[in-house]
Amino acid sequence: MTGKLQRRQFVKLAGAIVTTAPLARSLPVGMSVEKLRTAHVGVGGMGGADLASIASHPQVEVAALCDVDAGRLTGAHQKHPQARFFSDYRQMLSEMGDSIDAVVVSTPDHTHAPAAMSAMNLGKPVYCQKPLTHEVHEARRLNEVAQQKQLATQMGIQVHSAEPYRRAKQMIQDGMIGRVSHVHAWSNKNWGYDGGSFASQVAPPDTLDWNLWVGTASMRPFAPGVYHPGNWRKLIDFGTGTLGDMGVHIFDTPYGALALTAPLTVRTECREPTGVGHPTRNVVEYEFPGTDYTTDRMIWRWYDGADAPPSSDDLALPAEFALPESYQLPGQGSLFVGEQGIMLLPHVGEAVLFPEAKFKDRPRPQMEKVNHYHQWVDACMGQAKTSADFSYAGPLTEALLLGVVANRFPGKRLEWDAEAMQVTRCPGGSVELANQLLKTEYRKGFTVDNL
Ligand SMILES: NC(=O)c1ccc[n+]([C@@H]2O[C@H](COP(=O)([O-])OP(=O)(O)OC[C@H]3O[C@@H](n4cnc5c(N)ncnc54)[C@H](O)[C@@H]3O)[C@@H](O)[C@H]2O)c1
Repeated sequence: MTGKLQRRQFVKLAGAIVTTAPLARSLPVGMSVEKLRTAHVGVGGMGGADLASIASHPQVEVAALCDVDAGRLTGAHQKHPQARFFSDYRQMLSEMGDSIDAVVVSTPDHTHAPAAMSAMNLGKPVYCQKPLTHEVHEARRLNEVAQQKQLATQMGIQVHSAEPYRRAKQMIQDGMIGRVSHVHAWSNKNWGYDGGSFASQVAPPDTLDWNLWVGTASMRPFAPGVYHPGNWRKLIDFGTGTLGDMGVHIFDTPYGALALTAPLTVRTECREPTGVGHPTRNVVEYEFPGTDYTTDRMIWRWYDGADAPPSSDDLALPAEFALPESYQLPGQGSLFVGEQGIMLLPHVGEAVLFPEAKFKDRPRPQMEKVNHYHQWVDACMGQAKTSADFSYAGPLTEALLLGVVANRFPGKRLEWDAEAMQVTRCPGGSVELANQLLKTEYRKGFTVDNL
């Protein structure tokens, strides 16, 4: 199978493949097995990198590949010719449920929860790209079901395992800058779109199954360059904007290091909603309850697009901790304001502490190397524990997605009751609408048990 497949060939080939008898072997998950047979949903873009990283584990056998883009599927299949391949992950799971041990989900955000839950419903451990889900309800349910079924899970925030980030977490928890009152975090990327809806008469390419790509979302005409690949991030029905896309990486260390839970309130400054795209510039302020590592309340402020990095006025640092005048903040990163100093954590790099003279000779903790992907493979085989499992990734993602919900109510402070999973107040806005945004109905034919 070489070159680009035409749609008819693609369907025929996929059909021919799925009629072969399933492999006979079926090993219990979570127990020590010699090989972990993996199935991969979304194998282009980041999915290609995920596939390579997971396949590099010596005990992994790539058993199945799935992509709605035949060109991307062909590329992955050439690298793993022994694997069976599919365009529909539901068909893959139903045909191969007994002959795969674990599933990797690397699709656009709106397909994370449906694909991951479908795999977990079969008792399969899951590695799922970030942000964990597109909606708050989905994040809550993935976390609950993974815990009920005790499945090994990991969210695809590989920098979470990188030494500089783990070292920064340790330094915060060792109290190097004292208790933290504010975290500023930013990304100068721009996964937003401020324009109107798209009119298109162009048919999708023969090699793309548009119906499966749209999946659980409401159907709409294909438009070239608007959705696939990658640009879906800018659109509210498919992606989560810069806040969800980069915020989940950049907020990960503050969230974990400060042992934060659910926010109490969230308020955004951005343009009025258009119903189509995420805002191209966004400032979001969260208030979290205090923890062992923070003051009584902790404020997290996020800046993206042209609002990043924040200005020194935005930072409003105490005079004794002011950054050196010529200091240029990196394009992406976070800044922790502690009672005894400041930690700047570039995305991705080593932390810098201020005042520099005070911290320059302080020893820093040494970290062992961790491979985020292999940690999950080892966990599936009962030999390790993952550090970004869904019990961590779920609440982290929920917090970010609440900011995405708040973007529909710029300037209004939403109050959040995490236990009840409800927005309780939205002065000047509709609480009912805010709560509706926590969960969108899936399109007919694409519903998933447990979601
Ligand atoms: N962890 C990281 O550093 C990192 C970096 C980039 C992207 N990501 C994440 O990876 C995911 C994919 O992003 P991307 O940039 O690769 O997007 P992309 O659009 O380039 O690729 C998505 C792939 O999934 C396929 N796909 C779409 N719907 C599918 C479906 N229903 N079933 C099977 N395959 C389907 C597409 O054809 C494509 O091959 C996103 O969740 C993104 O946030 C993570």
